[in-house]
Amino acid sequence: MGYRTDGIAPHGMQLINRIATPEQRQEFIEKADFLPRVQLDERAVSDLEMIAIGGFSPLSGFMEQADYDRVVKEMRLASGLPWSIPITLSVEEAIADSLKEGSLIRLDDPTGRFIGVLQLTQKYHYDKTREAINVYRTDEAKHPGVQVVYNQGSVNLAGPVWLLQRDPHPQFPAYQIDPIQSRQMFKEKGWKTIVGFQTRNPIHRAHEYIQKCALETVDGLFLHPLVGATKEDDIAADVRMRCYEIMLEHYYPQDRVILAINPAAMRYAGPREAIFHAIVRKNYGCTHFIVGRDHAGVGDYYGTYDAQYIFDEFEPAELGIVPMKFEHAFYCTRTQQMATTKTSPSSPSERIHLSGTKVREMLRRGEMPPPEFSRPAVAAELARAMRVAVEA
Ligand code: ADX
Repeated sequence: MGYRTDGIAPHGMQLINRIATPEQRQEFIEKADFLPRVQLDERAVSDLEMIAIGGFSPLSGFMEQADYDRVVKEMRLASGLPWSIPITLSVEEAIADSLKEGSLIRLDDPTGRFIGVLQLTQKYHYDKTREAINVYRTDEAKHPGVQVVYNQGSVNLAGPVWLLQRDPHPQFPAYQIDPIQSRQMFKEKGWKTIVGFQTRNPIHRAHEYIQKCALETVDGLFLHPLVGATKEDDIAADVRMRCYEIMLEHYYPQDRVILAINPAAMRYAGPREAIFHAIVRKNYGCTHFIVGRDHAGVGDYYGTYDAQYIFDEFEPAELGIVPMKFEHAFYCTRTQQMATTKTSPSSPSERIHLSGTKVREMLRRGEMPPPEFSRPAVAAELARAMRVAVEA
């Protein structure tokens, strides 16, 4: 099952479509009560959705062991195609024991709603510490991505999946633009080169700066905030989306930018996740992808530019999407503009940059981040959201 596409080739050449046809859906619904069930957590729901809409092309299901092992060890699928993050459905041993290879499994969301089907082709044990060290570069349980691996079941269920139906996103229906649609939109706009931007944080001026520097050299900007599961203390997706709406209204040329949600869950795998993020955006039709400082990083697990260096481990043609690498950007008080050390002769005391943690602390104290860091309307929206959260 796949789509015909225009523009840049999807990863593995074909855009996967695993949304059940009306006939398949009818058949699955009739069988549903008789099928064994597995309940998915939020991340697995996102993964199912991403597989179904082609965001994870060429994957058509949860990974079998040959893919899993090679991805963990070498950042490649069994076929040799680059792939850096395991996409697995992990369950407890007792659940796995009750399921027979070859059977259809009903997949429910965390509320018990029937949302998909897995054709179980394989179940296998895996080594969590090995996955942690290879994928996350640490075995520390306090790393938020490693924590998920340690807390999940010890057996992976593998096989092709179907999403029962593509429902509108409950929070952001207007921004639910699937790969087949984004590709069509790029075509209609006549964009030949499109740069994708991944983000899990509220937009600040360094984001704006690197997005616009990139846009200066390509036809269009695909703003693609991640709205799947993030860690507890990250700013909620609805607040981040409002900040983007404010920015688009006042600070961006409407005809050069598309804002869309990325339904995937965050892994915090730094360098490996940068490769993964780029491949996913290629599936959405982007030709370029922004990788800035500590992309998809958390704490100090990764070096500032490790997520850029990792691109050198692949031939450009096998990734097929061009990384646009940016140094740490800041507001420079000497030149009175956004800059990096590549473009400004400033000394450290002339650079204004704040970490996400610092900004959250300021907002909690009722202080507004300065205009050199955040556009005032965005800062006001963050402050408002923080007040609402504190009062709740
Ligand atoms: S991420 O986890 O999605 O990478 P974030 O939303 O903060 O976090 O970053 C989005 C993108 O902007 C990433 O490519 C990141 O490297 C880049 N970025 C964030 N802040 C800066 C900065 N000050 N300078 C350069 N790049 C940055």
